[in-house]
Amino acid sequence: MRTASDLIDLERQFGARNYHPLDVVLTRGEGVWVWDVDGERYLDCLSAYSAVNQGHCHPKIREALIEQSQRLTLTSRAFRNDQLPLFYEEICALTNSHKVLPMNSGAEAVETAIKAVRKWAYEVKGVPQDRAEVIVCANAFHGRTITIVGSSTDPLARTSFGPFTPGFQVVPFGNADALAEAITPNTAAFLVEPIQGEAGVILPPPGYFKRVRELCTRHNVVLVLDEIQTGLGRTGKLLAEEHDGIEADVTLIGKALAGGFYPMSAVLSNLEVLGVLKPGEHGSTFGGNPLACAIARASLRVLTEERMIDNAAEQGAYFLSELQKLRSNVVQELRGRGLMIALQLVPDAGGARRYSEALKNAGLLCKETHTDTLRFAPPLVITRDQVDYALEAISTVLRTLAPHGERAG
Ligand SMILES: Cc1ncc(COP(=O)(O)O)c(C=O)c1O
Repeated sequence: MRTASDLIDLERQFGARNYHPLDVVLTRGEGVWVWDVDGERYLDCLSAYSAVNQGHCHPKIREALIEQSQRLTLTSRAFRNDQLPLFYEEICALTNSHKVLPMNSGAEAVETAIKAVRKWAYEVKGVPQDRAEVIVCANAFHGRTITIVGSSTDPLARTSFGPFTPGFQVVPFGNADALAEAITPNTAAFLVEPIQGEAGVILPPPGYFKRVRELCTRHNVVLVLDEIQTGLGRTGKLLAEEHDGIEADVTLIGKALAGGFYPMSAVLSNLEVLGVLKPGEHGSTFGGNPLACAIARASLRVLTEERMIDNAAEQGAYFLSELQKLRSNVVQELRGRGLMIALQLVPDAGGARRYSEALKNAGLLCKETHTDTLRFAPPLVITRDQVDYALEAISTVLRTLAPHGERAG
């Protein structure tokens, strides 16, 4: 039998080092819990970056996977299959959309939206060919393709990967005046996360998205909300846009769309934007395959049937309010909505990495984002008792791991 350290050595030897994982080798998961190869149990507070909102290995999603995998997995879109139309019908009813384009990863959904809004700009808005611009936000995270990292302001994401795709403008997140100034007659779209996840759960000021919606409508700019992380219940609503009382023109979802069983993403839109795409202009061999669609249908069903979205609102509010009571002098700020919570450490806390390592040893898995922020985003099936378990681990680690070995207050 290979030990955990054998497996870590193998990974180091043969794998590209494009991640810096915690040294925990997981082998099994159920609900909010995961187990490592030595049988240790951990509460998962990352949920695979919000791809496992429904909890690990949800039995009803697993059943759909097994059942569909015994009948038909992949046809390509050269032929029709009997799952895709039902997925379309159900996701449109759930999200009030008119058109859907299924892809695989989140980054592909973002790329698809960029292509669609550019074509829309030329064919519908009348922007001169090759002049379309997409406005994005500083510190945004939309994925890892060349086009997307070219629009990013994160030096780690972009350095040495150029030359990049032109046609992007960057504005500060949360500043509607800056957006108003950046819009030109050639602006096709504004692409933005409702809450900046990878930046460290950054919430915009109240009223920001109402003004964004007004500006986009007034200037005929497509509002593209990247809900790949915030969507599907994570913030306590099906889509985070509901907190702001607005509707995007194009919504991007991924991650939990297939419950952590399968990569699947989708572009959801009104008729006008996705309506510009014609056969042959865009596609993907695996996009919209019957296995993905059957899994997504089950994943969406359990989200609503098992009241996971309400639970995210309820447990998230409790989690955040209890964290606020911890009163540690290493905590600079707590931010969150639903079960998307960030704890920002003071700059001299010694970095978030050692806190995530200590939390692992206390039975809780989370990951630092940037150097000073810990993010807590457990599966939406978490119970009150399990939140208490997380709070106990966090409180112990904050107490015992003060900077330079001193006790925090
Ligand atoms: C807001 C947002 N957009 C896009 C992506 C990219 O998704 P994927 O990793 O599936 O390409 C992510 C992934 O973390 C994300 O958080």
